[in-house]
Amino acid sequence: MSKKPPLQTSSHYSTFGDQLPDFIPAYEPCLDGNEEEYVRDAVRSTWISYAGSYCDRLETDFAAFCGTDFALPTSSGTAALHLILAALDIGAGDEVIVPALTFVACANAVVYTGAKPVIADVDPITWNIRPDEVERLITAKTRAIMPVHLYGHPAPMNEIDAIVKAHDIIVVEDAAEAHGASINGCRTGALGRIAAFSLMGNKIVTAGEGGMVTSNDAALMDRCRLLRDNAMAHDRRYWHDEVGYNYRMTNLQAAVAVAQLERVDFFIERKREIARLYDFHLNAVPGVQGPVELAGCTNVYWMYSLLLDAEYPLTRDELMMELGQRNVDTRPFFHPLDTLPMYASAEPVPVAMDLSQRGISLPSSPKLTDEQVCYICEVIRAVSPN
Ligand SMILES: Cc1ncc(COP(=O)(O)O)c(C=O)c1O
Repeated sequence: MSKKPPLQTSSHYSTFGDQLPDFIPAYEPCLDGNEEEYVRDAVRSTWISYAGSYCDRLETDFAAFCGTDFALPTSSGTAALHLILAALDIGAGDEVIVPALTFVACANAVVYTGAKPVIADVDPITWNIRPDEVERLITAKTRAIMPVHLYGHPAPMNEIDAIVKAHDIIVVEDAAEAHGASINGCRTGALGRIAAFSLMGNKIVTAGEGGMVTSNDAALMDRCRLLRDNAMAHDRRYWHDEVGYNYRMTNLQAAVAVAQLERVDFFIERKREIARLYDFHLNAVPGVQGPVELAGCTNVYWMYSLLLDAEYPLTRDELMMELGQRNVDTRPFFHPLDTLPMYASAEPVPVAMDLSQRGISLPSSPKLTDEQVCYICEVIRAVSPN
């Protein structure tokens, strides 16, 4: 539904003069470190499957990055989530509380185990799962809570920890979108009992496709490794006491990820700089609300995202179209899980529904130049009443 005046399609944005800039993608990985060299090295070594030196190095380097004792590479973030739930023996008859505003993999991973995802509404400011909703939804069947650090801002882990203390409930962090984010100096991956990351191509650290599990719990990590490797017995080759999975990452993927980790501090610092630039140019635009960074938290702004309200002259979809016409790629927020057909029976989640309709993610790659950020902001400002 169109609001207020029709699109103003001024073709002149000063940063690029009269020219349209080259296409600006919503995300683009930085692959200009040692990625190519390490992949060549892995190929030359002939260790291209899961056993290889880059897989070993990734375990050490990723654990060091998160500040955990252990890290285990997996084939995807979705596989990492499923593996964790399977290792916790979560299954039929159990419930896992997940936020309404997240990627569908969170609920799917629960369903893969036979358990039921219970969908909690989110906070209107941080967009993350709400502790009071978690508390309200806990039942005798609740086995785990899966807070997601949405778009790079840490979820309220301390508040959730305080709630679960009185129960036998495990906190499984979904850190797919928040490599390096932290609360009081403690990084994601080390904030719950166990955590899952995604290393897909548009994530802060990528392997092309891939995931990681991190934890300080040696026994639980052993169980994850066993299930990841088809549950092959450690002491008897090709003997399997139970059904496992092949959720391994290849040495080729790990080679990319190891090179990425060498530069992750730069990626995060550049992303935070880009966020400050967006903030500077957009915070006075009426009807536009940017992302927050709560006291004590470090937001890594995986996707720098905005909410538009009625004061802004365009709807979210109209702004996406306007930016698209100007060669700027954007993403809408996720659909709340309970609007998807397979999760439709859940309770209403009004905050997630509202955010989902008004939220837009802007280009957020560390490769963005300051000029590109200024151009994007000029387009957004050009359609505002000021
Ligand atoms: C919050 C969240 N969880 C899980 C995943 C799944 O990760 P993958 O795509 O690596 O399977 C994603 C991926 O984007 C995600 O954003």
